[in-house]
Amino acid sequence: MTSTISFKVNGARARVDVSPVKRLSDVLRDDLGLTGTKVGCNAGDCGACTVLLDGEQVCSCLTAAGQVEGRSVTTVEGLAPTGVLNDLQASFKRHGAAQCGICSPGMLMAASSLLSRCSSPTRTQVEDALGGVLCRCTGYQKIVEAVMDAGGQGEALTCPGAGAAVGAPLAKLDADPKLTGAEKYGADSIPKDALWVRIFRSPHAFAHVRLGDFGDLVAATDGLEDILTHEDIPFNRFGIYPVGKDQPVLTEGLVRYRGDALVAAVGTRQAVQSLQLADLPVTFEAMPPLTGVAEAKASDAFQLHEDKPGNILIEGAVRKGEAKAAFESAAARSEGAFTTHFVEHAYIEPEAGWARPVGDRVEVHVTTQAVHMDRDEIASVLQIPKDRVRVIPTACGGGFGGKLDVSVQPILAVAAMKYGRAVACVYERPDSMASSTKRHPSEITCRFAADEQGLLVSSELIADFNTGAYASWGPTVAGRVPVHGSGPYFVPNVHNIGRGVFTNGPPAGAFRGFGVPQAAIAHECMMDDLAEQLTLDRLEIRLRNALRPGQPTATGQVLTHSAGMAPCLEALKEPWAELNRQADGFNRASSGSLRQGVGIGAMWYGIGNTALSNPSTMEVGIDPGGQIVFFNGAVDIGQGSNTILAQICADAAGLPVEAFTYIMGDSDLTEDAGKTSASRQTFVSGKAAEQAGQDLRLSILRHVNAGEGARITLLPGCLVVEDDSARHEIHLEDLPRQDKGMVFMGRGNFDPPTRPLDENGQGDPYATYGFAAQIALVEVDTDLGTTRVRKIVAAHDVGRAINPQQVEGQIHGGIAQGMGLALMEEYVPGVTENLHDYLIPTFGDMPAMEVIIVEDEEPLGPYGAKGVGEPGLVPTAPAIFGAVRHATGVRVTEAPLLPHKLKAALTNQEARK
Ligand code: FES
Repeated sequence: MTSTISFKVNGARARVDVSPVKRLSDVLRDDLGLTGTKVGCNAGDCGACTVLLDGEQVCSCLTAAGQVEGRSVTTVEGLAPTGVLNDLQASFKRHGAAQCGICSPGMLMAASSLLSRCSSPTRTQVEDALGGVLCRCTGYQKIVEAVMDAGGQGEALTCPGAGAAVGAPLAKLDADPKLTGAEKYGADSIPKDALWVRIFRSPHAFAHVRLGDFGDLVAATDGLEDILTHEDIPFNRFGIYPVGKDQPVLTEGLVRYRGDALVAAVGTRQAVQSLQLADLPVTFEAMPPLTGVAEAKASDAFQLHEDKPGNILIEGAVRKGEAKAAFESAAARSEGAFTTHFVEHAYIEPEAGWARPVGDRVEVHVTTQAVHMDRDEIASVLQIPKDRVRVIPTACGGGFGGKLDVSVQPILAVAAMKYGRAVACVYERPDSMASSTKRHPSEITCRFAADEQGLLVSSELIADFNTGAYASWGPTVAGRVPVHGSGPYFVPNVHNIGRGVFTNGPPAGAFRGFGVPQAAIAHECMMDDLAEQLTLDRLEIRLRNALRPGQPTATGQVLTHSAGMAPCLEALKEPWAELNRQADGFNRASSGSLRQGVGIGAMWYGIGNTALSNPSTMEVGIDPGGQIVFFNGAVDIGQGSNTILAQICADAAGLPVEAFTYIMGDSDLTEDAGKTSASRQTFVSGKAAEQAGQDLRLSILRHVNAGEGARITLLPGCLVVEDDSARHEIHLEDLPRQDKGMVFMGRGNFDPPTRPLDENGQGDPYATYGFAAQIALVEVDTDLGTTRVRKIVAAHDVGRAINPQQVEGQIHGGIAQGMGLALMEEYVPGVTENLHDYLIPTFGDMPAMEVIIVEDEEPLGPYGAKGVGEPGLVPTAPAIFGAVRHATGVRVTEAPLLPHKLKAALTNQEARK
């Protein structure tokens, strides 16, 4: 039943005929077209949908349309009605407070409510007022700073001028649409007449499935067009590795995890949403699932995939020297076993997109990290040539690796082609959490040994990763971890193994670090053990062993430059001493249950794919009107590549970055830049962008025969080229059009040099590595078992900081996710499938964070840059665990360290005394 509801929106009168119980968020988005209000959970957990109702912040997903009758609603679109950012939005831009931007509208509305009551809020007031809105990208620090500085007079840096972009804290080129609500994410531009697709999923982890006849259901349900089954899918398999396409789009009769796709309903949005799984003629014969690595490896375990005996997906190994013998004769030895669990990406934007047929092609608009891989996967599923598929990425509201795998893409493409019209699919939060890939649970055993001076002589690490029901990025994890398992240290004798093991868990895939964060927990505990045995300072033992230029890695690769581990540790010496003094003072003064401790974690991270070709191609052109167009195939998932790559390209061309426009990721208009993962875009696509800029510059100079040092000035419709001997004007309208309508075009391609690993894992798997160390100050309540992180100081060797503000932002966000891994996040299928049972760090959880940028330049990289996306997270959990041990004596071997587990360990420790 509908009613007419009248209210004010952003100062204007609105009347809608809707059900009075319809969510206000849906009214705003669907009936009024105000898609600046985002929906992340429909349960009041994430706060992305926050709006003002009569000036007070409310979750619009929990507000019924009937509640706003006669009242006044303000959305993000109401903050800048003329398009000029207000003071708060300008402050967000100045401080770099929006990364992916999906949380920004909610943050801005909550902050607006606070600032209307209090023009100069304290940090605590900001944290309290915005505490209901979650951000998965920023670590919150820049958001707090932006709100506190909302009345500040500073301006965001937007025009550094020609040649001055690299190294400048340039505001994001896409900041304005993220802050006004104009940015379009996966669910924001769905055509009104689109059919909707809803995927139904298995409630069982392992079962045979029988599909009945859906004809009666379709006939009896208003608006329901069809139920798609595997028989509707031309090639019913997808997966990352061409030889391992092992995941069905829709089940063929066996489901292997809770969340496996069964069938897809197609119809009106109301029709598909009204259906329940129980309405469908689907029956299950459930079987006992393989819930962990041990069960899956048992000799009598069911084999989940025909071609994978023993349920082993893959094994990777690195062997150097005689690790076992060196261990046995060493002065100091340590051994340990470590466990981690599934971790959810929890991006605030659930998977979403839409597709339509265009002639004999299909066009898919989707939130993704990997446009060209998506195109190839869709073509494979449809069994059509790649050039009949166009993928246009929407803005991506967070990915962290989870949007490297396809989600809605195959079924959208199939449905659009079958029905010949636009179709849309938007996951609800429980769908997203049930079906998306996770961080691999790990079971790691390792042992390290050192001589009397604390120099490592041997390291051995065996890591079993629960890769879940399907391969996804499991091979990458199993291959990367043996390379990194000895830590960022010179170790002469090494034996590391990584294995992916199939179970009936959710598919585990890529998640910021590809297994390296799990391994770092193990190897950093070994370093603390050895320091304790040898009574060495924990920073000092790491410094003595830090991998330096000229020393071979575990794979025998000799880094000749940009191995900045030691400089990072040197940079931390002073804060390390200071925080240790602070903790000692606190503990001497405290007679209660609170204990402080300080810990350190170090890491290294190979940038890009492991021992595989890893190319990127970039193009930049000038059109006849004098507009610079950057054809950028790299997807910006919030980490800032739209801005950073433009900064690099602009300086290489000698043109002002403020004149750049860009096309991001459209598979028809941009070349393949590879996926946004493995911290590779700044290094790999950045080098390609640098070359493209140089190529553009060269083609302009050649056109007028000018020398290399000539200055190029861009004027409307005209380029002026000046050198010592001449001044040339190039009138762009007079020039012939080239590719993509440009009159000048530059192109760059970079594939970082690697050397394949041999049978012993020896080779050069990466062209360069990032290095970092973080120290943590924690406070443990020994009565409750709770751990509060008070401070993190992070030193990161990024080669060169192309944009220092964004480097800091990446590290802040990495620290937040590392804290989640260490202390609170554990995904349990069927139990933690929303954001009120699955907790991620909030404003109130975050410590003070200090970032020290170390610039040990990488000659191969653009202007010396490497990457920082994953390194921001890797050392955090080891640093926190080291600090907990320092505070309490408990040696942490399982993540997350939930309060009841720490309390039990403290109780056991007390009992052993
Ligand atoms: Fe906050 Fe991405 S910027 S969720």
